[in-house]
Amino acid sequence: MREFKDKVAVITGAASGIGLGIAGRCVREGMRVVLADVEEGALNKAQKELAALGGNVLPVLTDVSKAGDVTRLAEKTLECFGAVHLLCNNAGVSGAEGSIWEVSLADWEWAVGVNLWGVIHGLRTFVPIMLDQKTEGHIVNTASTAGILPYHPGVTYHVTKHAVVALSENLYRTLAQQEAKIKTSVLCPGFVKTRILSSARNLPEESRAGSTAGQLNVEAEEAAWAFLEKEFKVLTPDQVADSVFSAVREEKFYILTHPEFNDAVKKWMEGIIQEKNPETARLSFRK
Ligand SMILES: NC(=O)c1ccc[n+]([C@@H]2O[C@H](COP(=O)([O-])OP(=O)(O)OC[C@H]3O[C@@H](n4cnc5c(N)ncnc54)[C@H](O)[C@@H]3O)[C@@H](O)[C@H]2O)c1
Repeated sequence: MREFKDKVAVITGAASGIGLGIAGRCVREGMRVVLADVEEGALNKAQKELAALGGNVLPVLTDVSKAGDVTRLAEKTLECFGAVHLLCNNAGVSGAEGSIWEVSLADWEWAVGVNLWGVIHGLRTFVPIMLDQKTEGHIVNTASTAGILPYHPGVTYHVTKHAVVALSENLYRTLAQQEAKIKTSVLCPGFVKTRILSSARNLPEESRAGSTAGQLNVEAEEAAWAFLEKEFKVLTPDQVADSVFSAVREEKFYILTHPEFNDAVKKWMEGIIQEKNPETARLSFRK
C-alpha cells in the first residue's frame, strides 16, 4: 500500500505507546483513524490530541480479548468510515513473571487473552471484510523480539509473542497463496519507551488477586526507563511508526527495529539445526 490519504486505519492499543505513535503517523498521512483501546481515559485523551492535529478519529472502547467487542469495533468502523485499509493488531500487555507453574491462571488468561486472542479476534473479524472490499490493504501484527528469541523472563509474554509471529507467518502465506491484495507484516521491536512496564493498570479487577504482574507507580516506571535507556537502545514510538510505514510501503513482512538482537536469533536457529540443547546463560543485548 503506497497511498494513505483518506484511507481508513484501525489500531488496537491506540491510546498509548506504539499504537498512539502509529495513530499519529496515520493522521499526518491524512488517513481516517479508528482508535481502539480498553483504557477509557487514555483513549479520550488520545482522541482529543489527534483531533487537535486535524485528525478524523473515532475512539471505540474495546477489550480485544473479547470477540464481541472486536465485532462491535468492526461495525462502528464500517458505520463511520465504510471501509478498512490498514489494520494494526497492536494491543498487548507485559504479563506476569515467574515460572510456568507459578504464574496464576488469571495471569495466563489475561496475557493469552490480550496478546494472542486479541490478534486472533482482529484477524477473524477484519480479514473477511478487507478481502470483500477487493481493495489494497495491509495488516500489521505487533509481536516483539520476545517472539523470535529463545528466552524471555516473562513466560506469558514469551509464549504469546511467539504465537503472534507464527500466526502472522501463517497469515502471510495464506494471503499470498490466494493472491490477495491484502499484505501483512509482523512488528518485532526491542525496547520502546511506552507504558508497557505498567501494563497491569489494565489487569481486569477479578484477576488481581494472586497476580505476579509488575505494578509500577509513575516514579518507578521512570526509574526503570532511565536504567533501560542507559544500558540498551530504546526507541520512541514515533521511530517505530516510521519503520511500520516504510514496511507497509515496501510490503516488507518482518519489521525488526533493533538489529542488536539479530546475532542471538541466528545463534538460536543454528543451535536448533545442530540439535544443541537450549542455552541457559543470560542473553545480553547491551549497547
Ligand atoms: N514497549 C516495548 O518495549 C515493546 C517491545 C516489543 C513489543 N511491544 C508490544 O507493543 C505493543 C504496544 O505496547 P506498548 O509498548 O505501546 O505499551 P503501552 O502500554 O504504552 O500501550 C498498550 C496499549 O494497549 C492497551 N490495551 C491493554 N489491554 C488491552 C485490551 N484488553 N484491549 C484493548 N487495548 C488494550 C493499553 O490500554 C495501551 O493503551 C504490545 O503488543 C507490546 O507487547 C512493546
